[in-house]
Amino acid sequence: MFADRTNWNLQANPLSEALSRHRAQGKPLLDLTISNPTECGFEYDSRAILQALANPSSLAYDPDPRGLLSARHAVAAYYAARAIELPADNIILTTSTSEAYTFVFRTLCNPGDEVLIPEPSYPLFAFLADIQDVKLVRYPLDYDYGWQINFHALQQAITARTRGVIVVHPNNPTGHFTKPRELEKLNEICMARNLAIIADEVFLDFALQDQTPFSFAQNSAALTFTMSGLSKISGLPQMKAAWLVTSGPERLQSPALARLEIIADTYLSMNAPVQWAIPALLEQRHPFQKQLLARVRKNLAELDRQLATQKSCARLVVEAGWYAVLRVPATRSDEELAIELLAQKNVYVHPGHFYDFPSEGFLIVSLITREEEFAAGVKLLLSVF
Ligand SMILES: Cc1ncc(COP(=O)(O)O)c(C=O)c1O
Repeated sequence: MFADRTNWNLQANPLSEALSRHRAQGKPLLDLTISNPTECGFEYDSRAILQALANPSSLAYDPDPRGLLSARHAVAAYYAARAIELPADNIILTTSTSEAYTFVFRTLCNPGDEVLIPEPSYPLFAFLADIQDVKLVRYPLDYDYGWQINFHALQQAITARTRGVIVVHPNNPTGHFTKPRELEKLNEICMARNLAIIADEVFLDFALQDQTPFSFAQNSAALTFTMSGLSKISGLPQMKAAWLVTSGPERLQSPALARLEIIADTYLSMNAPVQWAIPALLEQRHPFQKQLLARVRKNLAELDRQLATQKSCARLVVEAGWYAVLRVPATRSDEELAIELLAQKNVYVHPGHFYDFPSEGFLIVSLITREEEFAAGVKLLLSVF
């Protein structure tokens, strides 16, 4: 009855089962995995947000496959604030970065074609690729007081079926940026092998150091698809508004955009009220990012303060983003450890293997957790070692 691509293992994993049982029993829970910004106690300008959604222009249906021009101008202005000039025509609006990935995979790949993804990384890719009949091939990121792309392994992973290389900039959950010299090397490889760069920049604005990172949206050497959206930038995942920027040499950029436009035109998935609201919703990023970065810095400082009192656990360097990676004693699997923390300490963390860490001994904690909950959760977590 069903397509092979949907033959997923639908069984809940042991940690999810343990969490459901824990919740069903009404036990207390310190959730250090929280990633939904609307549940973290940040203040939003509700009036401005709701007013933006009530634009009378939304009453007319006048679709543009790339998305409403005024919304695309607002996205262009977001990049202009980073001194990146983009024509609004190179921007396509989508309902999520997940949808943007779908459009890009459909534009680049025949069934069974391959896309390279970093390891460790965000777990959604496997499903996005399965649904589009794309095969993911991993390339390792190595850690040595900071993360870097293992270019030797990346090049070995390329086959005749490879169509593109995904970079998450900064990466989730490692929180590191692609470095300018890595961009150069990526361009060299992708141009030589006719591959596209697919850059996920949903966390670009959450740098913890003062230096402004580059954006792949300004990359013109290899064909590059850069995606981002309001779900992280303005902390508004419920608005379902994202975008895809296409850049690169003209001979590739124009046909890529023309093909993407047909895909976008086939769905016309953006709704009018949200598109009219995008300029105002993008403005919300300023107060949101200020609060979020203050929270992340405070939680990181608290984490470091507590880590300094013991010797078993350490954290990896974080350059950006909403997460910290803890290195913990690998005396059992990360999943067993997470289940034990839940059962014995009422603390919920993600094991490294959720993000394809290549070995045991890593836990991921969310730095956007409310401060008191974070401090209490970390204390309990460290008490088991
Ligand atoms: C790296 C990365 N990309 C994309 C997304 C999803 O973003 P969207 O809500 O726009 O689909 C997430 C969400 O956590 C993410 O971590």
